Amino acid sequence: MKILITGGAGFIGSAVIRHIVENTKDSVINLDKLTYAGNLESLKLVENDSRYIFEQVDICNRAELDRVFNSHKPNAVMHLAAESHVDRSITGPAEFIQTNIVGTYNLLEAAREYWNTLNDDDKKSFRFHHISTDEVYGDLPHPDEQEGELPLFTEGTSYAPSSPYSASKASSDHLVRAWLRTYGFPTIVTNCSNNYGPYHFPEKLIPLVILNALEGKDLPIYGKGDQIRDWLYVEDHARALYKVVTEGVVGETYNIGGHNEKQNIEVVQTICSILDTLVPKATKYADQITYVTDRPGHDRRYAIDSSKMSKELNWEPVETFETGLRKTIEWYLSNQQWCKNVQDGSYQRERLGEL
Ligand SMILES: NC(=O)c1ccc[n+]([C@@H]2O[C@H](COP(=O)([O-])OP(=O)(O)OC[C@H]3O[C@@H](n4cnc5c(N)ncnc54)[C@H](O)[C@@H]3O)[C@@H](O)[C@H]2O)c1
Repeated sequence: MKILITGGAGFIGSAVIRHIVENTKDSVINLDKLTYAGNLESLKLVENDSRYIFEQVDICNRAELDRVFNSHKPNAVMHLAAESHVDRSITGPAEFIQTNIVGTYNLLEAAREYWNTLNDDDKKSFRFHHISTDEVYGDLPHPDEQEGELPLFTEGTSYAPSSPYSASKASSDHLVRAWLRTYGFPTIVTNCSNNYGPYHFPEKLIPLVILNALEGKDLPIYGKGDQIRDWLYVEDHARALYKVVTEGVVGETYNIGGHNEKQNIEVVQTICSILDTLVPKATKYADQITYVTDRPGHDRRYAIDSSKMSKELNWEPVETFETGLRKTIEWYLSNQQWCKNVQDGSYQRERLGEL
C-alpha cells in the first residue's frame, strides 16, 4: 500500500510512520505543514528509507492537496493533521476552526475528487481513515459524583464536546461521516483516549511534568488534579491505527483506549516516584507539585470501552501504564536535545489557556 499520512511530523503521526516503515512493506507520504507541533527530527529513524516521502503542505491549500494526490496516487489516507492542544484552543480558537474543520473539508474534497478518477477495484479498496479523539463525547460521571460501576464511552455515545478543540474535532468527525453517507466515500473513524510516549511536545501533561521536574521547576496541577483520563501508550495507538486502515470495515467507528483510568495527580505522583529512583536528588520531586486554577470547561472523566477493537480487530494494548510510563521517562532522559530543539525558543512551557 501507499498511504498518505497527514500530520506525520506530529506526536502520533510520527509514531504511525515509524511503525509502518519499520514493520510493513508499505510506503508512506507524510503531508505536514510543520506548525510548532510538527518536527521532522521525530522521523530521523526513517527519513532515509526509500519508502518514505515528505511533502510540506497545509491541508487548507486545496491546489497543493490536488498536486500531492495526483503525483503520489495513494491507496489510503490516514488523517491526523490537526491543532491538538486544548489550552491553545482556549487562547486562540481560530486556528482550530481553520485546520480541524476547514482543513478536513478540503482534504475530504481533494481525496474524493482523486478517488473518483480510480478504477472500480482501486475505488473499492481505497480508505479514508479519520483519526479523532474521545474528547468529542464530553465527560463522564466521576467516582465522586456517582457510586457503583461507572459508564464508559462506546461507539454509540452521543457527542457533547466541551472545548473549542473537541468541538472542532467533533465537527470534522461529522463531515467525514457525511461524506460516507452522501457520496459513498469509503471512510472509517477512530476515537482514541489520551496518548503518551516518546516525541510528545512538552506542552502536554506528561512531558511537561518530566522536563519541569528535571529542571527543578513547579509541577502545576489544574484544580484538585482529580480529573480522570484513560492513558494509552502511543505505539499501541499506532498499531491500532494500522490495523484499522488495513482491516477495518468502511463506515465503522472504532474506539481505542488503554484500560488505564488515572487521576492527573496520580500520573504526576507516579512520574515523580520513577524520577526519584532514576535521577535521585536531595529532595523528592513531588515537593515541586503546585496547585493552580483549573482549566475553564475542564472535563472531569474520560474512559473508553475498546471492546470492539479487541473483538473485531483482535487488538489489545501491549503496555501497561507502569511499563509505558517508565519507557517514556527513560526516553526523555536520553533525548533532552530533541526537547530543546522542538521548543526552539518559541515556547518555554508557560501556562496557556487562562481566561
Ligand atoms: N495526543 C492525543 O492524546 C490524541 C488522542 C486522540 C486523538 N488525537 C488526534 O490525533 C491526531 C494527532 O494528534 P497529535 O497528538 O499527534 O498532534 P500534534 O499536535 O502532535 O501533531 C499535529 C501535526 O499536524 C500538523 N498540522 C497542523 N496543522 C496542519 C495543517 N493545517 N496542515 C498540515 N499539517 C498540519 C502539525 O505540523 C503536526 O505535525 C489529531 O487529529 C488529534 O486530534 C490525539
